[in-house]
This record gives sequence, C-alpha cells and structure tokens, in this order.
Amino acid sequence: MSNPTPPTAATASPATRAEPAPATRPETAPAQRPETATPRRILVTSALPYANGPIHIGHLVEYIQTDIWVRFQKLRGNRCVYICADDTHGTAIMIRAGREGRSEVELIAQMSESHQADFAGFGIDFDHYGSTHCDENRQLCGEFWQAMRDQGLIVQRDVAQLYDPESNTFLADRFVRGTCPNCGAHNQPGDNCGPCGATYSPTDLIDPKSTLSGATPIVREAPHLFVQLEKLHGFLADWIDQSGALQSETANYLKGHFLAKELRDWDISRPAPYFGFEIPDAPGHFWYVWFDAPIGYIASTAQWCQAHGERLEDWWKSDQTEIHHFIGKDITYFHTLFWPGMLHAAGYQLPTKVHIHGFLNVGGEKMSKSTGTLVAAETYLRHADPSYLRYFYASKLGARVEDLDLGPEEFVDKINSDLVGKVVNLASRVGKFASRTGLAATYPEDGGLFAAAAAAGEEIAEAYEACEFARAMRRIMELADAANPFVERARPWDLNKDPDKLDELRDVCTVATNLFRQLAIYLAPVLPKLAEQCGQWLGDPIVRWDQSQTPLLGTAVQPFQRMMDRIPIEALHKMIEDSRNDDDTPTTDPAAQWNDSDQPLQAEPLAPEITIDEFAKVDLRIARIIEAEQVPEANKLLRLTLSLGGTERRQVFAGIKAAYTPEQLVGRLVVMVANLAPRKMRFGLSEGMVTAAGPGGAEVFLLGVDEGGLPGQRVH
Ligand code: 2FM
Ligand code: ZN
Repeated sequence: MSNPTPPTAATASPATRAEPAPATRPETAPAQRPETATPRRILVTSALPYANGPIHIGHLVEYIQTDIWVRFQKLRGNRCVYICADDTHGTAIMIRAGREGRSEVELIAQMSESHQADFAGFGIDFDHYGSTHCDENRQLCGEFWQAMRDQGLIVQRDVAQLYDPESNTFLADRFVRGTCPNCGAHNQPGDNCGPCGATYSPTDLIDPKSTLSGATPIVREAPHLFVQLEKLHGFLADWIDQSGALQSETANYLKGHFLAKELRDWDISRPAPYFGFEIPDAPGHFWYVWFDAPIGYIASTAQWCQAHGERLEDWWKSDQTEIHHFIGKDITYFHTLFWPGMLHAAGYQLPTKVHIHGFLNVGGEKMSKSTGTLVAAETYLRHADPSYLRYFYASKLGARVEDLDLGPEEFVDKINSDLVGKVVNLASRVGKFASRTGLAATYPEDGGLFAAAAAAGEEIAEAYEACEFARAMRRIMELADAANPFVERARPWDLNKDPDKLDELRDVCTVATNLFRQLAIYLAPVLPKLAEQCGQWLGDPIVRWDQSQTPLLGTAVQPFQRMMDRIPIEALHKMIEDSRNDDDTPTTDPAAQWNDSDQPLQAEPLAPEITIDEFAKVDLRIARIIEAEQVPEANKLLRLTLSLGGTERRQVFAGIKAAYTPEQLVGRLVVMVANLAPRKMRFGLSEGMVTAAGPGGAEVFLLGVDEGGLPGQRVH
C-alpha cells in the first residue's frame, strides 16, 4: 500500500513546488518563512466599539470576519498587524458616567476591560487594543486639525440646537422626545418618527422633552465648526471611482447619493459640556466623537509602534503598506467620505480597501433585547463554544454588503453536520489508533486525496483573500466529504482488532490524519483552537499555509483528545432565554437604560396611603369605546359611549380632545371607573370616567389593556 512518491502539491501541480518532500517530518521550519516571495505589509482595523455598551453577537460578525482575514494573512507569511481600540468620547458616555456617579475615565476603563475579555473569549487576536482617550490621539487630532485649518477647510457658523436648561447640556437627537410634527404620534425621538417614518430636526418636535431631565428644552444658538467637504469633492469622486478601495455597490451608492450633488458641510465641533478633546484654537468647544474616533486607528497604531520599535510613518505614510478597514454598512458614510477626506488633508495614506459587511439578523428578524436575540458575547460564552460562532459566520460571509441570518436550526446543523460530523469526526475515527501506530514513514496510496486537497489550497486561499469565506468553507467541506469515505472503506476499527494488520492500520491512520491536518490548516484562520489541538496532537504546530502541501510522516502521535462536541438545539434556546433576562448594563440601577425622568413624580407627588378595602371601593372595569364624537360646545371634551359587554353601556365625557381624534378611539379597550356617581353636565350625563395619565392638553395618555382583556372584566 505504500507509495514512494509523497503526494505533495508537486504531484498535482508540478509548477507550484519544486522540491520533493523528505520522508520524515518534512515541514517543521520556523513560522516566519514567507509564503509569498515578498511578504506584504498590511495594517488591518475593525471599527472601534463604543465604550457605552457590551459586545454582542451582532458586533462579533465584524471582529470575527476581520480576525479570520488577519489570521489568514499571517498564515500566508504576510506581515499583518491588527489594530483596534475603544471609542470613548461623546455625550452618551458623559451622561451615563454622570448617572452612575463616576468619572468618564473610570467608566471607559471598565468598559475597555470587559470588551477585551469578550473579544479574547472569541479568539479575536488584536496586535494592539487602545483607546481613543489617549495622549497619542489628542496629539494626532491636533495635527489633523491644523492641516485642515491650513487648507481652509474649516468654517464657523451658529447652529440652533435644543438645550436642556436643567442638566445644562445641548441635546443630541436621541436625548429629545416629543410629538411627531407630521402624524402627531407621541413620544417620538428627535430625528425621526417610528409610526409614520417622517424625518425632521429636533427643533420641529411638538412639545419636546429632554429625556435627561424631563425639562422642556429651549432653542439655543452656539457656534459650531464645520468641515467644508465640498472643497474635497473632486478628490473624493476620483478616489471613490478609481482607487478600487470600495466594493462596487458602495461606490455606486456614494455616487448616487452624495457625489451627484454638493457635499454638505460636516459639523465637527460640540460646545461644552462634552466628553472629548477640547479644540486647542476654540476653547469651550470639543471635537465631535466622529472626528477623533477614526484618528484613533492611527493613535492605536502609534502605541503598537512604540511597543515594537516600529515607525508610524512606515504604517500610515508609506505606499508599501496596505491599509484595510473592516466596518458595518451603517458607518459607510464616515469611512468613505469624511475619513478619506481627513487622511488626504493631513497627508496620510488612504485605505487600500474598506470592507463593508451587512447586519446580523436572528431567525429572520432584527435582533432585539426583548426577544433575547441580542445575545451579549458573555451570555453566548456561557452556553456555547466560540468556535461554533466563528465557523457559522465564516460559512455565511461573502465579500458583498449583505445582511446575514443566524437561524438556530441552521446553526446547529452546520456545527453538527459539517464541523463535528465531517471535519472533527475524521480525526476522531482514527485518533486513538493513530496515537498507537504513529505515522508511516512514507505516504501511502490514498487514491489522490491528499494531492487533490493540496491542489485546492490556492483556490481556498483566493477565497479567503477576497473575503469570500463562505466559498472557502464550502470548498473545505467538499474536501472533508471526499476524505470521510476513505476511512469508512478502510475500517480502521476492524484493522485494530487484528495484530497482523498493524502496518495497514498505520497507513490508514497516516492518510486520515494527514487529510484531517490539511482541513485543520485550511480552517486555521476560522478555527485557531482546532488548529492548535491538531498541532499538539501531531507534535507539529500549524503556523503556515503551505504546511498543507506536504504530509506529516514518520512521527509519533500524542494521545488523542476529543476536539469538539455536537451542540444540542436546547443550548441555543437556553442562550436566548438567558439573554432575555440579562441585565447588560453594569450599573447598580437596572432602570438606567430607560432614562426615565423623575419630573412626573415631582410634579405630582404620591397621595397618602390607603387600605386595600379603600381601593376596592373603586370599581375599575375594562370597557370598549364603541362611539366617540366631538362636543362642539366644549373645548376639551369628547363624548364617548363605552360598552361593558352585552348591552351594558355608559356615556362618558372625557377631556382628551387635544390628544385624540374620535377615529383614533373607536374600538379601543380602556379602563374606566364604573361606579363613579353620575355627573350632570351641560351636554348630558357623564356616567363614569376613563383612566388616563399625563399633564393634560395634548399630553394625555389613555391606559391600554393587554391582548385578551375583555369588556366588563374588573381591574384589581
Ligand atoms: O459605530 C460605531 O460603533 C463607532 N464606534 C465606530 C467607530 S469606527 C472608527 F471610526 F473609529
Ligand atoms: Zn409621525
């Protein structure tokens, strides 16, 4: 069964590799040997996560995608450095720190620690993880700023913005809520309306309220500094069109949405109070977080350079270095217009490629906290092996800006059938025997399996290089599909029972082990832990892509340890259930996430205590509004006919005219006080009261009834 010709890639493709593999331990050279003649120098970043929340599985799409690409580059022998940092500035951090009674610096230190622990848990291997709140970043921001000033790109203009007079702060859009100027829906955010989809500016909101204090904001003018992006129009249009840095759909989107008209000035400063860097030549004003965040990529690289004796210019000012940003589609605008504009103005190298990915959905739906599908990294790690998620994402990711879906059944199927069933099982089936026999000194006849898999190496590498990970995974699974029947036919478990078949058993183990090792090498960017386990088992660490081209021979094999287990679907259900109950805000107050103001309670303090018997005197009932009409003579009232079920009716005059139209009310279930003494009014008899909250006028909110409640039922 032995074949004297080792089936290296030379067998399948003689041009790729000239030297024949030696008969024993052919590939144990140090890791540094480059795969390519001249290793590329590559700087890679993922978007800097905000320091105001935990990492969840949606974020992880990007970090896993980037980590896979970086690991692939390193495995190919390229010089690749993976840089990231926490994005720490802005109003949200300032407000949260204030609410939690600690400094912003304390808050961001704790978040950085928890982010880094989450990333480490998923095997995301940054070369450096910094923070935008550091001296290097402050200095670089100053340098960029000066360059932009010098080139006449900055102008000053007054901006009218809502200001909270109680918390003494200008209000970003998300800190204002009020009535939609378009459809009248209540409690809508400052920039767009949920129910009707209208977009507007926070100053257009009717009856706006600050979510920080509940106060009514006032409009206040403040000077802001703007970048005149239009002055860079020509440069940006050329870069977007000709650099090849953008996926074609992104370039087309930018051309259609932005470049076709004048580029709007970018508001780059915020007046105090603001957590960030004060602008040196504009005291009392701070750079907007989106100015200093991308510069954080460079600042974090500078820290890495300092720690490793490197020169920053070699990484950010040299055309010998490739710069690759991985980002989500929501921040396309910042990375493809502002950031290139800033880099150009300051004389830094432009990105070689901006790799933009889509969003994660779970079970076909947008992730949400209430359904438990917004799973925190930490919660995931309590329930499942991180390798599963890495593999699952790899199997879904392509180079286009497309959303991906995590369906629990598909997830379980991919892990159990592909990863465990095809890949890990190949090792499991011969693992124990191989540890007994060791590997043969010459590679046995295997029907061309090793050579074919070796020849597939370049195709798989091209897919990784192009970020077509799904394609790479499919090709690797095809190799696994081809390898497994070899073991099934050879039946090593039977050979193991026959002492005369030891050589045959060793040959089978040698083939299966080497086919598994090839898969482990090809999967190493995605599954570094599996690669490490394989390396330990065979006493030959996986450190280079081209180890896939030569079999490992004539060596002892360590005792076999199980490498990966199947995942039961229940583990995912439990994860989602736990996630629903998770309190991810590491604050002492679980209510902090809703920002509820104490203003309503202060406006109307609690009434004196009553007994349960006193409460029971009030007969609250569910009622359905079956008619509603205007009362022309009354300014504030609507006449409602309420049904308590069957033929029981009540007429009620309710002071809700400014808040509701009759059409909005008919059919609704409400809670009424059913045993209130009737009151004779000018327009007729009022036979009860409909319960509602709010200060009055347009700010009246009827109490609703959850699905299932029936007219006539008592409210206890
Ligand atoms: O969208 C975000 O989460 C931002 N914190 C990303 C910043 S990326 C870079 F520009 F710093
Ligand atoms: Zn609306």
